[in-house]
Amino acid sequence: MVKKIQEANVKKQTVVLRLDLNIPYSNGKSDDISRIEKSKETIIFLIKNANKVVIISHFGRPDGKINEDLSLKILLKYLKEALGINIIFLPSLEIDICKKEIDNAPFPSVFLLENLRFSRLEEDNSPDFSFKLASLGDIYCNDAFSVSHRAHASTQGITKYLPSFAGFLMQTELKALSLALDQPLKPVAAIVGGSKISTKIEILDNLSNKVDFLIIGGAMANTFLSAKGYGIGNSLTEERMIETAEGIIQEIKSKKCELVLPLDIVCANSLNKTTKTHTCSIDYCPKDQMILDIGPLTQKKLMDIIDKSKTLIWNGPLGAFETSPFDHGTNNIAKHAVNRTFEGQLISVAGGGDTVSALKKSASASKFTYVSTAGGAFLEWLEGKSLPGVESLKL
Ligand code: 3PG
Repeated sequence: MVKKIQEANVKKQTVVLRLDLNIPYSNGKSDDISRIEKSKETIIFLIKNANKVVIISHFGRPDGKINEDLSLKILLKYLKEALGINIIFLPSLEIDICKKEIDNAPFPSVFLLENLRFSRLEEDNSPDFSFKLASLGDIYCNDAFSVSHRAHASTQGITKYLPSFAGFLMQTELKALSLALDQPLKPVAAIVGGSKISTKIEILDNLSNKVDFLIIGGAMANTFLSAKGYGIGNSLTEERMIETAEGIIQEIKSKKCELVLPLDIVCANSLNKTTKTHTCSIDYCPKDQMILDIGPLTQKKLMDIIDKSKTLIWNGPLGAFETSPFDHGTNNIAKHAVNRTFEGQLISVAGGGDTVSALKKSASASKFTYVSTAGGAFLEWLEGKSLPGVESLKL
């Protein structure tokens, strides 16, 4: 159980608040500020209680070097707009200078410190840097579940020097994720899609011990189909993982979990919008074509499984969703999950970069019970790992 910010004595204190402001940003703008939007509750709570708030975050991977393109100053306007308040930017990581400015400010005030990863000491989890960050305040609050799989100075090191609490977004993430996997309503179905088995072996292993249906989609499924002896034409596959896939298939047979692979497929010669598509059983993938989506029989099977299930965990698209019409499988299954969720029949939880984009494309994301803000942290949680940034908030 993590310590919660609302249980701390936070009135007229200086709170060092770890957010994850690592939002998508290109060509001078961001088209997804949901991580900022979702951090609002904690910031507003702290301001209402007359605290000084020192927001700390990373942005991108500047690798310990100053990089103006990754300055957090760029995101100041989004924070100010979302919160409707003034925020003072602290442009360097010279902590002693920042501390003087913070100490001299009135209560309440909000500061944003420059990108922590401009110093290598952040990712090195340097005790000295952790101590310096801690010197900026009286209390530490972590509201950045999505970076809590990293043992960095701002997520773990700092907790050794300050009383440490979870913010509201962190609490919401932990509650939703635990509802989906630790104490779920059963039966539980999990969809694991995407292109590579190699990055998801630990997820498959952990989930196969916990869920009733493990549905494999995306190019990952091709490697499993190959392992089962089906021809997959020119499809994307991981040759070197075929043996591993065979092993996973055998192992799951001894567990109380049904492994679900595509029954039929949508194929084409190339991946583009105008290409001619061909739908067939997995027994008949043409030699010169690629599998790019699940077919209607598979969709029907997945919908039946969702109807039987009370909880659905989703990571990874079922087909090449970026290019229509190969997004149909993912879209139709997402819509079905949304309907069941709406009817109160299903708890649906999704996470991981591509998954969220895929669900947003089908306008389903906001209708799931919960969509995590996390990419890598969500995957590590699916693997059953404990996350250092979360562990260090525990009682
Ligand atoms: C994310 O976007 O997943 C987090 O901010 C973590 O970023 P990282 O993978 O660069 O540590």
